[in-house]
Amino acid sequence: MTRDPRFDILFEPVKIGPVVAKNRFYQVPHCNGMGHARPRAHAAMRGVKAEGGWGVVSTEEVEIHPSSDVSPYIEGRVWDDRDLPALTLITDAIHKHGALAAIELAHAGMNAPNLYSREVSIAPSHVASPANYAPAQARGMTKADIAAYRRWHRNAALRARRAGFNIIYVYAGHGLSLAMHFLQSRHNQRTDEYGGSLINRARLLRELIEDTKQAVGADCAVAVRLAVDELRGPCGISADGEGREVVEMLAELPDLWDVNVSDWPNDSKTSRFAAEGYQEEFVRFVKTVTTKPVVGVGRFTSPDTMVSQIRRGVLDLIGAARPSIADPFLPKKIKNGDIDDIRECIGCNVCVTGDYTMTPIRCTQNPTMGEEWRKGWHPEAIPPRSGEDSFLIVGAGPTGLECARLLGRRGYSVHVAEAGEQLGGRVTRESRLPGLAAWARVRDYRLNQLNKMQNVEILRGSRVTANEVLEFGATRVVLATGARWRRDGIGRANARPIPGFDLTRGVLTPDDLLDGMPAAAGPVVVFDDDHYYLGGVLAEKLRSEGHEVTLITPADRVSAWTVNTLEQHAIQRRVLELGIEVLVNRNVAEFDGTRIVLECTFTGRQTTVSAASVVTLTSRLPNEELAESLGAMPESANAAGIVSVTSIGDCWAPSTIAAAVYGGHRYAREFDCPPGDEVAFQRELADPSNT
Ligand SMILES: Cc1cc2nc3c(=O)[nH]c(=O)nc-3n(C[C@H](O)[C@H](O)[C@H](O)COP(=O)(O)O)c2cc1C
Ligand code: SF4
Repeated sequence: MTRDPRFDILFEPVKIGPVVAKNRFYQVPHCNGMGHARPRAHAAMRGVKAEGGWGVVSTEEVEIHPSSDVSPYIEGRVWDDRDLPALTLITDAIHKHGALAAIELAHAGMNAPNLYSREVSIAPSHVASPANYAPAQARGMTKADIAAYRRWHRNAALRARRAGFNIIYVYAGHGLSLAMHFLQSRHNQRTDEYGGSLINRARLLRELIEDTKQAVGADCAVAVRLAVDELRGPCGISADGEGREVVEMLAELPDLWDVNVSDWPNDSKTSRFAAEGYQEEFVRFVKTVTTKPVVGVGRFTSPDTMVSQIRRGVLDLIGAARPSIADPFLPKKIKNGDIDDIRECIGCNVCVTGDYTMTPIRCTQNPTMGEEWRKGWHPEAIPPRSGEDSFLIVGAGPTGLECARLLGRRGYSVHVAEAGEQLGGRVTRESRLPGLAAWARVRDYRLNQLNKMQNVEILRGSRVTANEVLEFGATRVVLATGARWRRDGIGRANARPIPGFDLTRGVLTPDDLLDGMPAAAGPVVVFDDDHYYLGGVLAEKLRSEGHEVTLITPADRVSAWTVNTLEQHAIQRRVLELGIEVLVNRNVAEFDGTRIVLECTFTGRQTTVSAASVVTLTSRLPNEELAESLGAMPESANAAGIVSVTSIGDCWAPSTIAAAVYGGHRYAREFDCPPGDEVAFQRELADPSNT
């Protein structure tokens, strides 16, 4: 029983073939930058999800063979028996808390560049490698290759069962798997029984399901992850076309349908481009054509939405990747009626950047993600205080609020002095920009927690001087005063100020716009040498206010870094659709108040663009005036009983909101056990004796 009977339905067990999930919370496959390379960290992360109440916890895509080597990306691996100890660590961690363990067996076909294994990539038909313009091709598979692939898949399923997995996936999703490549008519030009008609193109998927059921079906459920719509209209698989036909054809064959849209950026859409539940229109047909349980996704964080999905017969199981990353304890919180303690995913896809940069996963909302084993951080269990320190935190942005939340949870007495009347710092300001409203959850979750604490007090409208800090009486001072954008143009492309970049000529920073300062009437140039989301968002805002906007960037595309959050394509499309002119590979040489001189980054050839205002995003400067003042009076600080003054977050080194939250969290966890010169986390070292 849950505290709120409306949510009881979410905790009903669901039979999936020969196994039973204890509830309807299903952590769908998600990679994490740890995969096969960092198995202890990986297992600990999955274990925390199971502890948090997820009925099913899945791996990420797991390569079944060296010809599916997606290096340098770090996914799971079940190439041979030597991978079993690492996989068993994961299943043990999941089973310890009564959850089912699922493994997504994957062969990436043409998407596997095989850079480590040096195998030749395989595909339904000969095709150029889609990976990073690599000068390579995938070979069209012979019948013998197909037979071998089926054998590898079957062997991987048998191994997965030995490793203790309860649910074994056949993966035909995201356009990233061989089984899906065979389904896609544009990739499958075969003329034999595996090509041509849909029945033929689906033959391999059918055989894989049958092989897997035959191999392990008595003990393990066999799930299919299928992309039912590629959002390409009639040129691709669609929910009212071949996506539906495939499910109809194979309706009762698997034990579970896990259905979503493709490709990955469409599936993991950010909150800027899609609302919670956005996949419903594509997947709702599935339950009408099969009696097997259906899991689907859509950044589900609201228990009411989840209940509605079940009651309206859209889904049987609530699939979640990002909501389980932002709050591994989401199911338990719903069960216990702690709804306002849920740390809701903000849909920023910083979690995806771990995969893209081949480093352990991180999350804006959940700073413990990826640190469960490395640092022993748990998202809910926090060590109690170790002494009698009291804290003054200056600044109530994401860093200050997270630091206060954690210190408060540890039982310390904390005061937060915020210069302004509004809390949340850059999160509050940026969440007012087009498409970023959900980002305010970073502030709201923390304020909600802080409001419940007697030992934390927030002082608004309190711009403190160094002397006031000394007089305050806290033993530890934490400076979280944020950063401000530079106006002078110094950044990646320009090491020296850009001539004419000053306020008198109408050069504005993002801070000016966020403070409500209008751009001058007339055309506006946005100079984006920051390359994350803000340049594109501000261009969008200015365009919606009626300005003619030109976005200029030294990069080769708009918001270049958002490739790592899967948004770049959607951002550039939106910018172009809004009629914003885009000039890439251009640096700014100077601005005279009416004309901006540009330089091609390759040739140096100069051109000009008219501009009444320029909005410049190049780099930021930490707000470190208070730190400098306090640093200049160490004796007074000593005399005032201050043990430490520490700058954290953007006022130490400006970065992402995720890094700002992490900085606040880290200080609160570690101020009383600083690592000194030691490496601050556990590492998984290569063992030369292990071959
Ligand atoms: C960090 C991250 C990694 C992912 N990796 C995989 C993967 O390995 N295999 C897969 O099938 N889907 C993967 N996905 C897609 C998710 O399973 C899911 O379908 C998608 O994120 C939408 O669900 P959500 O809104 O609950 O996040 C990944 C998603 C994220 C955010
Ligand atoms: S990083 Fe962002 S999108 Fe990913 S889980 Fe965390 S809050 Fe959600």
